[in-house]
Amino acid sequence: MDFTYTEEQLMVQKAARDYAQRELIQDVLERDNKAIYPTKHIKNIADLGFLGMLIPMEYDGVGMDNISYVMALEEISKIDSSVAVIMAVHNSLACYGIDKYASDDQKKKYLPQLASGETIGAFLLSEPEAGSDASFQKTTALLKDDHYVLNGVKNWITSANSAGVYLVIAQTYPDLGHKGINAFIVDPKSEGITLGPHEDKMGMRSSDTHSVMFNDVKVPKENRIGDDGFGFKFAMKLLEGGRIGIAAQALGIACGAYDLALKYSKERKTFGKEIINHQAIAFKLADMATGIETARLLVHKAAWLKDNNEPYGTISAMAKLYATDVAMKVTTEAVQIFGGNGYVKEYHVERLMREAKLTQIYEGTSEIQKVIISRAISKD
Ligand code: CAA
Repeated sequence: MDFTYTEEQLMVQKAARDYAQRELIQDVLERDNKAIYPTKHIKNIADLGFLGMLIPMEYDGVGMDNISYVMALEEISKIDSSVAVIMAVHNSLACYGIDKYASDDQKKKYLPQLASGETIGAFLLSEPEAGSDASFQKTTALLKDDHYVLNGVKNWITSANSAGVYLVIAQTYPDLGHKGINAFIVDPKSEGITLGPHEDKMGMRSSDTHSVMFNDVKVPKENRIGDDGFGFKFAMKLLEGGRIGIAAQALGIACGAYDLALKYSKERKTFGKEIINHQAIAFKLADMATGIETARLLVHKAAWLKDNNEPYGTISAMAKLYATDVAMKVTTEAVQIFGGNGYVKEYHVERLMREAKLTQIYEGTSEIQKVIISRAISKD
């Protein structure tokens, strides 16, 4: 086993770390407080190539591997998970979905603008009644002449207001269940699309999340991705990779909280010594460090499997399940180590704890990851 990283991977990691620790940190508290979208930062990470990381060079992307991608996401998430989730949905779901499954014409049309970050991508699967039960799609896409007509409501859509490309999952043949579902590339400016209000979230408040309503929205027939009825499998395949991104995000959140707690424990004194010299605190930090290292092994294994064209769906579910639990435990312990200061916004750890919670919920709850893992092992 070779655990060394290439020079290129380390350069990407450094670029992401430098940007996060120099720039994102400046206004992260204000953006979180006021739920301000990170427009400037999205442009800057696009200039760094982080929005075209997984897109091949022939479509103007950077053509990097998934190990580089998770290393970059980890660094961004140490400081700001709002920017990280925009980056993750854009890369792992929108860019990967089009690159891997769309037609040549669709790739030529959409990938260059997604790679440059000129256009942000969003993924519209969840609905009021189809969250965990993703195949219970109520949004319909009925074929009429040379176009589909979309009607329905999508929920919890990351980048709903800022995206220039929507990947929409909808039901074309209700009688066929999941086999009747299709996936479409949709222009968010299409007539008949309206947004619900900005969701006032507990964490990741700087990313924009809305519901999206479709009322007789015409989508050209050529915007369907893949064969008729491929939409549910398309969504499942995308989420396998998406979960590696969210696991990397959770890992970054855990690391961010651990780094702050370690530093604080070396400075803060009680009973005449730095608190790291109290076993109660030292053991907490030991558990936090062990959880982080273990989570990183799973995240990097999942990314490595994807890079090597090996099946990665079960490991990505394990990585998400484990890393998000680690994030929740580590951030909670970090708040505890900071004591009263941990409950105050300026010390950042309470924000990281709020961010950690969301990673256990979106792109498949922890319970859904257990469904996926238990189904896979029962086939072994
Ligand atoms: N790859 C390919 N095909 C797959 C697959 C995969 N990973 N998983 C399932 N399928 C196929 C099955 O083989 C089956 O096909 P056949 O009938 O041809 O054999 C079909 O899909 C149906 O499979 P299941 O019976 O297993 O489907 P299910 O209804 O039991 O659901 C589930 C499976 C894994 C629970 C799925 O519903 C699921 O992933 N739910 C969670 C959804 C989710 O993660 N939502 C997140 C929203 S996106 C988001 O959060 C983005 C954001 O903005 C941050």
